[in-house]
Amino acid sequence: MTADIFARVQHILTIIKEEKIENAVELESFRIKYVGSKNEIKGLFGEIKHIENDRKKEFGQLLNDVKQAAEEKYEAFKSRLLELDEVQSGTFLDLTAPCAPIPAGSRHPVSIVLNRIIQIFERIGFVVAEEREIEDDWYNFTAMNTPEDHPARDMQDTFYLKGSTKELLRTHTSSVQARLMTTQKPPIRIIAPGRVYRNETISSRSHCQFHQVEGLYIDKNVSFADMKQTLLYFAREMYGAETEIRLRPSFFPFTEPSAEMDVYWGLKNEDDYRITKGTGWLEILGCGMVDPNVLINCGIDPEEYSGFAFGMGIERQAMLQFKITDIRQLFENDTRFLKQFVGIV
Ligand code: DAH
Repeated sequence: MTADIFARVQHILTIIKEEKIENAVELESFRIKYVGSKNEIKGLFGEIKHIENDRKKEFGQLLNDVKQAAEEKYEAFKSRLLELDEVQSGTFLDLTAPCAPIPAGSRHPVSIVLNRIIQIFERIGFVVAEEREIEDDWYNFTAMNTPEDHPARDMQDTFYLKGSTKELLRTHTSSVQARLMTTQKPPIRIIAPGRVYRNETISSRSHCQFHQVEGLYIDKNVSFADMKQTLLYFAREMYGAETEIRLRPSFFPFTEPSAEMDVYWGLKNEDDYRITKGTGWLEILGCGMVDPNVLINCGIDPEEYSGFAFGMGIERQAMLQFKITDIRQLFENDTRFLKQFVGIV
């Protein structure tokens, strides 16, 4: 009797070891038979009471071996089938496989142009200065020699903070000039890039927010010729080595004399006629010698120091370079638009 049951269990162990499992159906029937809650092996544990006392331990050991063999085989085949399934369905994760390329991001066209401008001026010793966008009207207007009754100060043109007649969103980066001249001693040689705000109706040509780069150079004996040479260098680095510039007399409250600088764009096709209004010239920036009143307002002696300043818009230059016809595209963050600039730095 005892020998019989030992032989039976031994036989089951052999069957378990040899059983072939090739698919999920076979795995499931194996599970029901040997691993599930009503499996065959469980019933055999009930036989222990019929075994002679001195072999009970041996029998128990054998049953445990069978149970363990069944469980191990089930687990091994389960994970093997899972793996096979993943490979077939494509969800298998092969950690050694070369990865799919990560899509490259792109720089915003305004950043591209801004970075180029910054690099050009950094090469000749200008240092980047960044300042606040919420300004005090003294720095934005008064220090910059803009009279109390100047139309730019009007609510129609400038965004004031709610309930304030003093705090505003800066209308130009020229406010950085006053910030720096009141806190630093000459020589000062900075460019100040940043966002500015004006109360304008939004259209394809103008926006209520845009970017400017301000330049300021204050030292002993700085002349108009220094300014002209600096700006010529900039234009040629930015628009090509042959680029011609012209300075037209203009007016800004904070510079005297003041000028606007054009670069020669050319008149090769219809677009050029439209963009340059038939003249071939494009206005790029405003500039001039810092007005002595501005120096005095900021605590710098105009008898000892002089300087030049310039300010330019970025959006227009970005639109020219990348042939963008609607300024609003620069602020909408439409990825179909932005994706076009992948790889441009
Ligand atoms: N702040 C002027 C504007 O927003 C631009 C400008 C003109 C800046 C002449 C200057 C300058 O520094 O000298 O239109």
